[in-house]
Amino acid sequence: MTDRFNTIAGWALFAGIVALGLSILSGMFFHADKPQRPEKMGFPIEGVVEEGAADAGPSLAVLLASGSAAAGEAVFAKCTSCHTIDQGAANGIGPNLWGVLGKPIGKHAAGFAYSTALPAVGGDWTYEQMDHWLKSPRAFANGTKMSFAGLSSPEDRANVILFLRDHGGGPALPEAPAGDAVEAADDAAATAGEAAGDTAADAGAVASEEAAPADQAATAN
Ligand code: HEC
Repeated sequence: MTDRFNTIAGWALFAGIVALGLSILSGMFFHADKPQRPEKMGFPIEGVVEEGAADAGPSLAVLLASGSAAAGEAVFAKCTSCHTIDQGAANGIGPNLWGVLGKPIGKHAAGFAYSTALPAVGGDWTYEQMDHWLKSPRAFANGTKMSFAGLSSPEDRANVILFLRDHGGGPALPEAPAGDAVEAADDAAATAGEAAGDTAADAGAVASEEAAPADQAATAN
């Protein structure tokens, strides 16, 4: 009887240790899984408000829904000294930006010598990430080669993002109402990106509809 008790107690203890080990391991894993945000956000730059504190105005999703690519083209005049936007155009001081949205950060333009700082951010160009980048490139990737102060106006940023999106497409736009809807849109974009599975059918339809204007833009160029 005692023997059996010891065996059972031993297994219980063993199971506990395994569970603890697994939870520690998975903790490391999920932490490593979020490379988008560096642990430390570089040095503070005057006039740049910490994330979260700046959320007084309309959200990015709302600005993207109400903005216009035409207005963004005017903003893009600030970028043309360094960037081309048309498909297949040469890299300049900065990389060609055709189709940059949804692509891996700091990697998409072939033959461009990126800094080490920008690709080190990891992940893809989501609308959120692009908004942070254009607000303050140096705060987003300390050590970036893009010597551009940033666009302080949230409207300008949203409009120029729409202009980028008009040139080569991008993920599905986030839905304006905050919360679940936005998450759903993100999920749909992710699924459409993988272009697989039955459940992706709807998301895929949306994605290809949205890609259409970009294709027209391509032929126009
Ligand atoms: C003074 C030149 C300069 C100006 C002006 C400039 N950029 Fe850049 N941009 C760069 C350089 C250089 C890089 C590469 C950064 C790196 O490797 O760290 C870059 C990178 C980028 C990237 C990342 C591309 C990728 O492949 O991941 C985006 C997006 C971008 N710029 C958008 C803009 C927009 C939009 C504007 C105007 C509002 C702008 N830039 C203005 C020089 C510039």
